[in-house]
Amino acid sequence: MMSKTHEELKAEIRRLAKEKNAVIMAHYYVDGEVQDIADFIGDSLALAQQAAKTDAAIIVLCGVHFMGETAAILCPDKKVLVPDKEATCSLAESCPADAFAAFVKEHPGYTVVSYVNTTAATKAVTDVVVTSSNARQIVESLPEDTPIIFGPDQNLGNYINSITGRQMLLWNGACHVHARFSVEKILELKAAHPGAKVLVHPECKGPVVKLADKVGSTAALLKFAIADEATEFIVATESGILHEMQKKAPEKTFIPAPPEDVMDESGSRTCACNECEYMKMVTLEKLYRCLLDEQPVVTVPQDIAEKAILPIQRMLEISEKLGI
Ligand code: 13P
Ligand code: SF4
Repeated sequence: MMSKTHEELKAEIRRLAKEKNAVIMAHYYVDGEVQDIADFIGDSLALAQQAAKTDAAIIVLCGVHFMGETAAILCPDKKVLVPDKEATCSLAESCPADAFAAFVKEHPGYTVVSYVNTTAATKAVTDVVVTSSNARQIVESLPEDTPIIFGPDQNLGNYINSITGRQMLLWNGACHVHARFSVEKILELKAAHPGAKVLVHPECKGPVVKLADKVGSTAALLKFAIADEATEFIVATESGILHEMQKKAPEKTFIPAPPEDVMDESGSRTCACNECEYMKMVTLEKLYRCLLDEQPVVTVPQDIAEKAILPIQRMLEISEKLGI
């Protein structure tokens, strides 16, 4: 059988979505062509908010697995599909639910705040979920003397501690993409582009965050880049966001921040990539197959979903109240 061209795939995807009353949602890190065909693109918070209010029969979540799980937990009566079930997240994987539950048990009386980049099972032992769009405000909404466990991202946790003055107890997790941006290479870029502003996602390490003109979630960085008077930006987050930045501000220049060099197996220096290989597993072809076959379906065991929905709903309620 002849494989379909990209134009044919796009036409089929739109036709199937309409026929099946499916909404296609995509995160800013997936391939640009997938973002362009989606009904809705957003950061993790916006995707959860959108899933919670959609009236479509099927949600196709073009992102990583925890994003599909969040949609499935919020919409137990809908079919939630992901184009590739293997598209996981190194940060979510850095926090196995059993070990996290044991850590929580060792600290009775602590309020457990978990980043949305966690599995459903980890969310099930959480009091309130946060994303990088609302972490600061949600932590600040807790009484000042509340002892808090924050997991799994140590970099985001350190950043929130630094801006709120809290002393949250941190789980030792990280995102392999955000943890490897290079301070030296960003400084070199700044020297070559003196007018450029530096945009940094808070999953990056502290020394990279210190270089930032703006720290924020993908949506916050995008908003800043569009509104700010600067015409050049060095972007320290997954490079998929550059697609929407360039679309929304075509007259501006966006430079992806370089990651540290790494050694390959032969011991030679090679440049690591600032792409998330999990997000990039979502392709037009897989999106088409997933709509056609209505597979793979994201399922969350009922006992876990019943517990995990509480901290997710708490996040959505606080965010709504605060207008985030
Ligand atoms: P956002 O919440 O900013 O969309 O980030 C999600 C993510 O996976 C960051 O690596
Ligand atoms: Fe997870 Fe990092 Fe990929 Fe985001 S960029 S989905 S945190 S592995």
